[in-house]
Amino acid sequence: MTQTLDHKSTLSRLAIDCRGVTKTYGKGESEVVALRGVDIQIGMGELLMLVGPSGCGKTTLISVIAGILDRDGGHCEVFGRDYMKMSSRERTRWRGEMIGFVFQSFNLLPTLTAAENVSVPLLINGMKRSKAVAKAKDVLARVGLGERSKSLPSQLSGGQQQRVAIARALVHEPKLIVCDEPTSALDHDTGHKVMDLFKQVAVGEDRALVVVTHDQRIFSFADRIARMDDGHIESIQDKKDVSTNLHE
Ligand SMILES: Nc1ncnc2c1ncn2[C@@H]1O[C@H](COP(=O)(O)OP(=O)(O)OP(=O)(O)O)[C@@H](O)[C@H]1O
Ligand SMILES: [Mg+2]
Repeated sequence: MTQTLDHKSTLSRLAIDCRGVTKTYGKGESEVVALRGVDIQIGMGELLMLVGPSGCGKTTLISVIAGILDRDGGHCEVFGRDYMKMSSRERTRWRGEMIGFVFQSFNLLPTLTAAENVSVPLLINGMKRSKAVAKAKDVLARVGLGERSKSLPSQLSGGQQQRVAIARALVHEPKLIVCDEPTSALDHDTGHKVMDLFKQVAVGEDRALVVVTHDQRIFSFADRIARMDDGHIESIQDKKDVSTNLHE
């Protein structure tokens, strides 16, 4: 009896529960199997980093977790919900409130200023424009871009654009933030500041953060590091082992 209760309470604290997740792109000769049965559980309050060689399926996996891409098979629940069981309207609304995503290529809207880009998740969630832009400016200041809120993406450096993308993922205080190489264009100090901010905003009892990265300089922020290879999770290491074993 006790065992059953313990088991249930452990499961209820999971932010993400993926079992046997598969995904194939294309058909016939152009078919690429990107995920071959991924098993990963991520707890509430956890910062999980995902590492692995180019093409091993990292972006595909986090896109499935964020509800941007449909899996082909297996099981995937995020905060106890399965995207495949939601209507497309419900999924869009739920994702808009619960998930923040930092894309590998930033995906900023080129005709909008930095502040307007950052305000998009707030507008989607129904906030009034003036309030949304004011909040976006606050978050831009927290990533060191207070002076650049009126700039267009084309007027910003790669690292500045990356910080706009990060601010956009944080602004609506989502319960899950998923980041694809969030520090790739940042210097050491800025990368650390951004990770500190992620920890403040995104790691809490009812929250979780998943970071795909090659950046060894930020490994120390992880609670666990999952290593992927060829569409699988190959191994998962706890923080205590990170400093000794994970330098690639
Ligand atoms: N839209 C797509 N159409 C077809 N194949 C794709 C598509 N997206 C990814 N792939 C393929 O799926 C596999 C996994 O790609 P994915 O982008 O998930 O890798 P990744 O681990 O994020 O790589 P990187 O470190 O280079 O970003 C690769 O072989 C890739 O070529
Ligand atoms: Mg990728």
